[in-house]
Amino acid sequence: MTQSFMTRHLHPHSQRLLSGRGFQIGHFLAHTMAGTSNVKSWIYTTAGYPATLTLSETTVPTTPSPHHLLVQVRASALNPVDIQLMNLSLNSSPGLNKPKIPGRDFAGVVLAAAPETQFQKGDEVMGISMSMDGTGFLTEVAHLDIRGACVVKKPSHLTWVQAASLPLVWLTARTAVEKCVAFMKDPIPANNKLVVLGGSSSTGIYMVKLAHDRGWTVLSTCSPRNIDFVRSLGANQVVDYTTSPDAVPKAVAAFKPHAILDCVGGTDCIGLAPQYVTIVGDKTNRATMGGSALYLTHPRMALRWLLGYLGLSNSYECIILQMKKEWLEEATNLQGERDIFIDSTFPFDRTKEAFERLDTGRTRGKVVVEVDG
Ligand SMILES: NC(=O)c1ccc[n+]([C@@H]2O[C@H](COP(=O)([O-])OP(=O)(O)OC[C@H]3O[C@@H](n4cnc5c(N)ncnc54)[C@H](OP(=O)(O)O)[C@@H]3O)[C@@H](O)[C@H]2O)c1
Repeated sequence: MTQSFMTRHLHPHSQRLLSGRGFQIGHFLAHTMAGTSNVKSWIYTTAGYPATLTLSETTVPTTPSPHHLLVQVRASALNPVDIQLMNLSLNSSPGLNKPKIPGRDFAGVVLAAAPETQFQKGDEVMGISMSMDGTGFLTEVAHLDIRGACVVKKPSHLTWVQAASLPLVWLTARTAVEKCVAFMKDPIPANNKLVVLGGSSSTGIYMVKLAHDRGWTVLSTCSPRNIDFVRSLGANQVVDYTTSPDAVPKAVAAFKPHAILDCVGGTDCIGLAPQYVTIVGDKTNRATMGGSALYLTHPRMALRWLLGYLGLSNSYECIILQMKKEWLEEATNLQGERDIFIDSTFPFDRTKEAFERLDTGRTRGKVVVEVDG
């Protein structure tokens, strides 16, 4: 049975990886015979980043469950939500304090696939899981339920790091831009005006690019060091948010946009366009959860949405990304360094440093962990 698992399911690279990273192959085989194998993973149990994050051994089944893939992770991109989840006090509650693996984005090789997944052993894939069952990708081998995930084949022109960097931020940008389409009514694309608050953020980058590709006129905000960069993405007008506290709302009001996309958070620009879409919410703190979950804790946001929905004020939506496979397929057409921006990469054992870099809030593009780097 051990031999048949090794030959049928385990990619040779994974065998090297498992044996070359301090794994005792005898130990691994023993677990294989028992139906599970041990892999190295970053885990957290109770709330409290960074102390909660530790490198540990976890188990994965040797044969995937129905609807599951076993994926040898090659790279995993970090997102603010990873830190926010590690800080979620709910995660310290009895019953929920089991070990969980952070990392939502991944690129890797399918080691074994349940038939329902329509993937095969050896497929090179990229994707995202938003499952709350503890599945994450800061691990050597992930057991991924395809039903809570969005996974596509990785094109050969993208590196592992580039592929892993895309799913969450691309899908967020794509979801947000789609929410603006109905408000861009002028048949001449350039007459449709969009604001992107935070154009140098990982999500803002793709919002600016997607709007530019549609021919819309874009105003975006960033700090001085990112002005040229945000212009290069296609922003027609760039506002330095550091000049004065009211520099952004003043410039946005003068621009008279049809829609505003907010990747920063706060309330300064609410009401300044017929459509306001935020991926953060009223809060500006990066350490706590944002997005549509805030409707539950911020009644003011829920009321704002309701008034917009009833047509009694401008439209307002606080959103979470939609995991549409056809949208993620679009991202596979992006071209390497022209379209994909990597702030920094870190080897697996330096994942804590990768999180520290992300946590600065000063990155330009994605922070990615190379799992077999
Ligand atoms: N709802 C969802 O589905 C969803 C999905 C993804 C992300 N999010 C949330 O969206 C936010 C952004 O995420 P991200 O991954 O794009 O962040 P990120 O890449 O970590 O953002 C870093 C960038 O933000 C810029 N920035 C910081 N403060 C700014 C300000 N006041 N105005 C303009 N730019 C500013 C920084 O530029 P400077 O260094 O030049 O200041 C830096 O380039 C986070 O709160 C995240 O949790 C929500």
